[in-house]
Amino acid sequence: MNDRHPPVRAVYEDRVAVVTLASENPLNPLADDLVDALVAELRRIDADPAIRATVLTGSSKAFAAGADVKAMAPLDYAAAFRQDVIGRNWDAIRAHRKPLIAAVRGYALGGGCELAMLCDVVIAAEDARFGQPEVVLGIVPGAGGTQRLPRAVGKSLAMQMCLTGTSISAADALAAGLVSQVVPTDRLLAEATRLARSMAAHSLPVLLAIKEAVNRSFESSLSEGLLFERRQFHAGFALKDQKEGIAAFRERRDPAFADE
Ligand code: CAA
Repeated sequence: MNDRHPPVRAVYEDRVAVVTLASENPLNPLADDLVDALVAELRRIDADPAIRATVLTGSSKAFAAGADVKAMAPLDYAAAFRQDVIGRNWDAIRAHRKPLIAAVRGYALGGGCELAMLCDVVIAAEDARFGQPEVVLGIVPGAGGTQRLPRAVGKSLAMQMCLTGTSISAADALAAGLVSQVVPTDRLLAEATRLARSMAAHSLPVLLAIKEAVNRSFESSLSEGLLFERRQFHAGFALKDQKEGIAAFRERRDPAFADE
């Protein structure tokens, strides 16, 4: 890693972390050093009780333009398998426990689109473009494109994107449900941070439980998911913050959550 140019920068302020992918190439190819640094930062955030939500963003040109194609070029099957190309570290991003908001400007392609989909909420600048162009390179998406994209946008559009490699605009991503909002490009970071702060105002254990429960819905049958949710709901009765939240509502005041 180049110490003078760390590939990931983080600013922690007021319960929110803003993590910026800042590779020397503004297209942010997802090189190992960048993904390693991202994972390390997310682990720090998970361990920091003062931070409750994170915005993940990229450069003005790209959230990320995908896996590092130049690094992949010389690999054969044995090396790709041995090094667990793409697999290595991605499960660690998936395991991040606190709310993670992707704020996407420019290209989110291949692994970049897949990284955005690993986040809990995706908001896009008007100039964002989302795509899975791997087919153009003669490869299959490797970090969830064929799995998370159909869950996000449905089979037909996911097939169209993965089989043609063509990207979609922010407006189309909004219509398809891939992103939750599109904002003017110069407002993206402010809006994403505002969203993170509105999450960070709540109780951390409750935020963690909600994230776990929503993610469980993608992994389980409806009845299993509903049971998991109900048990989380019941477990909430053990939290001081549950008593505080209900008391504050009844007393018509703001709650003072203690994350307990
Ligand atoms: N990896 C490595 N280098 C990349 C890169 C990538 N994913 N994307 C762009 N670059 C490099 C280019 O090679 C070029 O380097 P040089 O100046 O040394 O030639 C530099 O960044 C600038 O790129 P362009 O000149 O192409 O920039 P552009 O503005 O004309 O186009 C772009 C931008 C449309 C994003 C184009 O660069 C592009 O199509 N990139 C590849 C996108 C892609 O195929 N992503 C999928 C990768 S595979 C993957 O992600 C697998 C997976 O599922 C995890």
